[in-house]
Amino acid sequence: MPTHLREFGLLVCMTAMSTVPVLSTGMSSTVLVGDSIMAGRDGVWGIGAINKYLNQFSGQKLDNYALIGSSLHDGWVKSVPQVYGDMRKKTAPAVPTTIVLNGGGNDVITVRDDCWAFNDKCRKQIDEAMDIAEKLLLCMHDDGVEHVIYLGFYYAFNMTEAVDYGMEGIKRVCEGAPIDCHVADARNLSIPTGWDGIHPLDEGYKRLSTRIWEVKEANNIPI
Ligand SMILES: *[C@@H]1O[C@H](CO)[C@@H](O)[C@H](O)[C@H]1NC(C)=O
Ligand SMILES: *[C@@H]1O[C@H](CO)[C@@H](O)[C@H](O)[C@H]1NC(C)=O
Repeated sequence: MPTHLREFGLLVCMTAMSTVPVLSTGMSSTVLVGDSIMAGRDGVWGIGAINKYLNQFSGQKLDNYALIGSSLHDGWVKSVPQVYGDMRKKTAPAVPTTIVLNGGGNDVITVRDDCWAFNDKCRKQIDEAMDIAEKLLLCMHDDGVEHVIYLGFYYAFNMTEAVDYGMEGIKRVCEGAPIDCHVADARNLSIPTGWDGIHPLDEGYKRLSTRIWEVKEANNIPI
């Protein structure tokens, strides 16, 4: 393994590749990466809404690489780091300037009973997820991504303690990362959810998107 490649799981940071400014390619300079809260295109299953709102706010069409069901841990679909790695392989040598990221919710839902009980197994799952997020942010930094807005958890699905514990983790890894990373903390928003008690209704997505935009504005992050 060449020392210039940092590997974890199936993700290889593509630092060996030279990067060029994204504007010379077809890729948007800001991309979305994460799970079903961030995923979906054109409002399929009521989702894709964050993409829709960020497109409206920015007046651009942002590329969305988020994947329904994706966790930070390996899972039943490609993980968030794997999807990020695939994106890099597909779009290199271009590199996005800004990534709007989320992840970790499916890691919690995988052990939902433990997280409703908020026991050691739940905390271990969240700790592991945050270790993966930390490495992912390092990877993004090595790849030349400049800014990350990490959309945090909102209160839903009776996961109050797990949400707060997860948010401590997200803040720790985001603020400690070498990349310019800011958390969009959604915990004081009231997010109306749909039939599964997890995914927001359109108004909820609008509130999450507005919080992301507030963080962008407060920190002069280009989107
Ligand atoms: C969440 O808690 C409420 C009130 O205690 C309860 O009615 C509901 O069934 C719970 N939902 C889940 C998914 O556990
Ligand atoms: C809600 O949280 C955000 C982000 O942490 C903060 O900027 C804002 O002031 C809070 N609003 C209220 C009403 O507490």
